[in-house]
Amino acid sequence: MKLALLATGGTIAGVGTAARYTAARLGVESLLDAVPQLTELCAWHTEQVFALDSRDLTPAHWVQLATRCQVLLDTSGIDGIIITHGTDTLEETAYALSLLLKAHKPVVLTAAMRPATDPQADGPANLLQATHESLTALPGVRVAVHGEVIAGEKVCKQHTQTIHAFAADETPRPAAHIPLTSDAELPRVDLIHAFSGLAPDVVAHAVAAGARGLVIAAAGDGSLPAALLPALRSAHEAGVAVVRCSRVPHGGVSRDRNADDSAEGWIPAGRLPPLKARIALLLALAAGLDPAGTFARLSGDPI
Ligand code: SIN
Repeated sequence: MKLALLATGGTIAGVGTAARYTAARLGVESLLDAVPQLTELCAWHTEQVFALDSRDLTPAHWVQLATRCQVLLDTSGIDGIIITHGTDTLEETAYALSLLLKAHKPVVLTAAMRPATDPQADGPANLLQATHESLTALPGVRVAVHGEVIAGEKVCKQHTQTIHAFAADETPRPAAHIPLTSDAELPRVDLIHAFSGLAPDVVAHAVAAGARGLVIAAAGDGSLPAALLPALRSAHEAGVAVVRCSRVPHGGVSRDRNADDSAEGWIPAGRLPPLKARIALLLALAAGLDPAGTFARLSGDPI
């Protein structure tokens, strides 16, 4: 079997100690060389797609990576793809790939919390785990880290330091592929996290800066502060898609419960958490899809 190893940077390619290091310093061949068993298990095709700390990735990087992955998935001599990635925004890339790819082969992301030169580096074991996971030939996007395998659409980082940093959230499995061409224009979509005393002018600033979509991570059951409503109505009238979700991790947000979504034109995010709702909205707008229809297919029934 032959796997493609696509490196994008992150701590797994970092140099230094866990307390102080620089991410994305080592190249893809160094990652492979660090685990001698890898070349005994299968043949490899390697590519250095990016060399970035994942905090610096943008939606354009997701699309570039997805475009390259789809070419490799559709190549007959490649049986699966492993992507090494920084842990910080791994959940965003994994969700974007879940929506963008027709993954009829394994696409397994892996990462590390400690840099490659740390005496207790976790990257080599994670890369070996990702290889075993890819060799199962099970199709789909998923994350293999620290002995766990988490669906790409559900993964979320939950700890800033421990190596057991990832868990699955309630995000539903995507019911739809979002078809996007590599040259699609990617709109600005902003995420506004509500808090007591949030000044409503943040909405007007986002719209004036060119946002074509807004995701409001509201309190409780997606409860929009009264002070925000005029600004959100103006944004909607200006053609900006407004998605209503919750900063609370469980339960989701239902249509017309706790807000007049149908009358106002807000889109309830269902069980999509804020970060993932932003990705779904951004990619739907980029693909020219109706955002409300896309959320109806992606968001799942709130619990
Ligand atoms: C990054 O996300 O690129 C740096 C942090 C990490 O990988 O843990």
